[in-house]
Amino acid sequence: MDTTVYYFSATGNSLAVAREIAQRLDAGEAVSIPQALVDGDGSYDPANLPAVTGEVIGIVCPIYMHNLPHIVARFVQQITAADYLFFVFAGGGELGNGARTVRRLFSRRGLTLDALFNVPMPSNYTPYGAPDKASRQDQFSAAADAITTIVDTVQSRSPHTDSTGTGFVATHIFPGPLYRLGHRFIPKMDGNFTVDDTCTKCGICRQVCPVGNITLHDGRPVWHHTCEQCFACLQWCPVHAIQYGKKTRGVERYHHPEVNVRDIISSAPDGPETSAEQDSPV
Ligand SMILES: Cc1cc2nc3c(=O)[nH]c(=O)nc-3n(C[C@H](O)[C@H](O)[C@H](O)COP(=O)(O)O)c2cc1C
Ligand code: SF4
Ligand code: SF4
Repeated sequence: MDTTVYYFSATGNSLAVAREIAQRLDAGEAVSIPQALVDGDGSYDPANLPAVTGEVIGIVCPIYMHNLPHIVARFVQQITAADYLFFVFAGGGELGNGARTVRRLFSRRGLTLDALFNVPMPSNYTPYGAPDKASRQDQFSAAADAITTIVDTVQSRSPHTDSTGTGFVATHIFPGPLYRLGHRFIPKMDGNFTVDDTCTKCGICRQVCPVGNITLHDGRPVWHHTCEQCFACLQWCPVHAIQYGKKTRGVERYHHPEVNVRDIISSAPDGPETSAEQDSPV
């Protein structure tokens, strides 16, 4: 079975899940979506993305503002043929419109999503605080069980649909027009990032950015409004010099314990900066 597992990941939750699924499906290394979307000279050009085909294709990614990360939505639209498609949301568990968006984008291309999995992982949205340490291990244990289900389901090429969230807010408010509208502003929400004087000019924030949205001016980051809101820059800054609004100073940073900064740097394209402004694809 020719299987490829693609991932998009800022703090390693999706990468850790994708790696494990790929290994247990004997699918080789999981493939970074930002790298799968670069062209020959290593740059990411949303207006000119390469086509993707495969026998079995799986995608593992977070959820942002109750919908699909924009770069993943672009990637989904590059898939032109597959016999079996599966999608794993390794977000915080509240998918909002994520599942609906994936199905819609596939169906536009005449493709059907065969299996959808929701694997809740610790939240990396630092403005709401650091993920609760006690519950992290429970989530990782539950994720290990979920991965076994995913592997069994894909191996037998069965259909599967997980719940996309729990409670009234998750099922009625998060998928609603407010959040759909909010997604359009994601590329420019990097206007909320600031850098403290403690910046050591190491350049890691630029290196981890999956879409080349950061340049260094006098050694310090400048954001260029083609942001994915992945928070890799904020999370991986070794001295916590990057803040988002007023609520992140002094809050613990998060990454998956089995993923390190080199894994995230090597998931990003090497190329120069991106990318013209673009419409929301979700
Ligand atoms: C800007 C932002 C928005 C987020 N919105 C949601 C959300 O709507 N629902 C959810 O369940 N998790 C949400 N999260 C949490 C992430 O999806 C979750 O922590 C994910 O596991 C991170 O994956 P990664 O480590 O692979 O980057 C959000 C995170 C960020 C940074
Ligand atoms: S990662 Fe942090 S310390 Fe390094 S250049 Fe970026 S803001 Fe400065
Ligand atoms: S600027 Fe920061 S939050 Fe935006 S895409 Fe790059 S790393 Fe992610």
